[in-house]
Amino acid sequence: MDFSEFDQDDRIIGRERLTEDRDENGLRPVCWEDYAGQTRVKENLKIFIEAAARREESLDHVLLYGPPGLGKTTLAGIIAAEMGVNLRITTGPAIEKPGELAAILTNMNAREVLFIDEIHRLNRSVEEILYPAMEDYCLDIMIGKGPSARSIRLDLPKFTLIGATTRAGLLSAPLRDRFGMIHRLELYEPEELIRILRRDAGILNIEIDEEGLETIATRSRGTPRIAIRLLKRMRDFAQIKGSGVIDQRIADFGLNALEIDERGLDATDRRILLNMAEMFSGGPVGLDTLAACTGEDPVTIEDVYEPFLMQIGFIAKTPRGRVLTVPAWQHIGLPCPENYDRRTAISDSTDATGESMKDNQRQIQIDSES
Ligand SMILES: Nc1ncnc2c1ncn2[C@@H]1O[C@H](COP(=O)(O)OP(=O)(O)OP(=O)(O)O)[C@@H](O)[C@H]1O
Ligand SMILES: [Mg+2]
Repeated sequence: MDFSEFDQDDRIIGRERLTEDRDENGLRPVCWEDYAGQTRVKENLKIFIEAAARREESLDHVLLYGPPGLGKTTLAGIIAAEMGVNLRITTGPAIEKPGELAAILTNMNAREVLFIDEIHRLNRSVEEILYPAMEDYCLDIMIGKGPSARSIRLDLPKFTLIGATTRAGLLSAPLRDRFGMIHRLELYEPEELIRILRRDAGILNIEIDEEGLETIATRSRGTPRIAIRLLKRMRDFAQIKGSGVIDQRIADFGLNALEIDERGLDATDRRILLNMAEMFSGGPVGLDTLAACTGEDPVTIEDVYEPFLMQIGFIAKTPRGRVLTVPAWQHIGLPCPENYDRRTAISDSTDATGESMKDNQRQIQIDSES
């Protein structure tokens, strides 16, 4: 197998969907039982689906957001299946004109689900068609041009819109406000990834033992898509370098060969951490400065690298910028500066930091149990 074909954009540990993920569809769970993790989202959705079914109404519109590969498309499929209705799938950039969206909407049946992926990329004129469609189930269409133009109102069946986005912040407020439910998908815990991997290994006929599962799960950045991809890669290593079974030795060997370290960080993650340590003594440093110094795009840092580094508690956000945490200093093997906590104000920052520190402790606990 030739790994040189994977350049930076095709990082094996990137969350975006690659061509090699095309057989993903066969692994997509179609019922709640097979959909691991995301417990809070799942429990809420189950209740709302059940309630809507009893009232024989359509489900309220749902917005799913979170980093790529966490199961948004999969979840949309399960929602439609649980409601026993059709799922129509499209994406924001694919709908170029208002008329195209109008055509899709007028062809829907009552209670059916329309899934719009990358909904933040809808253009403005198309988005405006959605407002009355979502709110009042109707379309306002202009007929004719100039002085003879008039607007007519068309009634639509009561459908459900599921929007998915990796960037909820880019959604306009009027669109966001029209969703009855907004669910954020979280990165997965290793135990949840183990469940997913065990099921997928079964489907793909891949032999893997408990240690192998655990090793891949803890090094997949909390992302099912990456876990599945690594599982397939480790199968290759097991075939060529081992007895065909993915065990601890093979998983360690393969992941090291792919430069994925024991916490699931790759070369770019480590470069970000090192840069913060060496050039900014750990921070605080602003996103744009950090991007310029590491040669990455700020959006990529924010969407792809940072969520995981924050989840494992290596980076914290403070009101003055990003800072490295003490465990991050330990991980990159550099001594943490004196009075570090006081200088970076990690302890009194008020945003997501508290969460990620907790996650970090939980992670350490898992590591020491294994
Ligand atoms: N909770 C889960 N349980 C089991 N498998 C999952 C789960 N979430 C995701 N997967 C697996 O991960 C793969 C990627 O998930 P999916 O395509 O739904 O992600 P996504 O959030 O839609 O990504 P993108 O933002 O790139 O569209 C799926 O093929 C599925 O097999
Ligand atoms: Mg998707």
